[in-house]
Order: sequence, then structure tokens, then C-alpha cells
Amino acid sequence: AIERTLSIIKPDATRRNLTGKINAKFEEAGLTIAATKRLQLTKAQAEAFYAVHSARPFFNDLVSFMISGPIVAQVLVGENAVAKNREIMGATNPANADAGTIRAEFAESIEANSVHGSDSLENAANEVAFFFAEIEIVA
Ligand code: CMP
Repeated sequence: AIERTLSIIKPDATRRNLTGKINAKFEEAGLTIAATKRLQLTKAQAEAFYAVHSARPFFNDLVSFMISGPIVAQVLVGENAVAKNREIMGATNPANADAGTIRAEFAESIEANSVHGSDSLENAANEVAFFFAEIEIVA
């Protein structure tokens, strides 16, 4: 089915001007970038976005990293978009990411791993709504 997923190009990637190369990966794989905005999260926004991870030992470092520079939030649309984007990203830890994936090519560490992608259709809907109004999403 045609799905939507939420992608974030993280501060390690915007800092290195990798937005275009990462967008090319999405488009080459057949996903449409249906919405995009560059912004810098506040601490409260980053904590809210990652609330599901609030009990994890890496939570505070993750929030600090995510507010350390600009991010690019995007809605990707296409057939099987949630799972397809996770394939394009590769494993969370770049050491485990398959060759050719965004994280294998660009990630610096398990934390500074260049991109976020929704992990389920249900979370995708919530994460898309966190950043975008319906009028901003044009597939
Ligand atoms: P993301 O897909 O955005 O979801 C949670 C983020 O936490 C993850 O990518 C990493 O950037 C970060 N993170 C840092 N340490 C870990 C860890 N040990 N396991 C999972 N995620 C981690």
C-alpha cells in the first residue's frame, strides 16, 4: 500500500551539507519527498519527539545531539514507505548497516547516525503530525 513515513536528517548530516545526497537516496529508491522543512528543535521539542525513549540511558545525550544544529524533517511517500525507508537508512548502528545505505555511507556513530525514520505505520502518523499540517503535505 502507499504509505507515509517521517524522516529526519539529523544535525551531524546537515553540518556536513549532506542533505542533497540523502535526498537522492530517497528519490532513487522511489520515495517522494512530499513535505520538507529545515528547523532547529528546542530541548522541549526534542524531548517530546523522543518521549518513547525517555527511560533509555542514551536519552539525555540524544536530546543534546538533536538540538545541536539544524535538522530537516520530511514526509516520504510511496509503496511500503515505512519499511522501505528503514532499508534505505540501514541499521541504527552504522557498524551493522548494509553497504549502500545512508548510515553505512554517512553516519558517524550510533547516536550521530545521520537520519531518523519512523519504525511503524502508527508511529509514522504521529511523527508526521508532530512536524506537519496536512496542507503542507503534497505527494
Ligand atoms: P533514531 O532512529 O532516531 O531513534 C533513537 C535514536 O537514539 C537513534 O536513532 C540514535 O540516534 C540514538 N541512540 C543513541 N544510542 C543508542 C542506542 N544504544 N540504541 C539505539 N539508539 C541509540
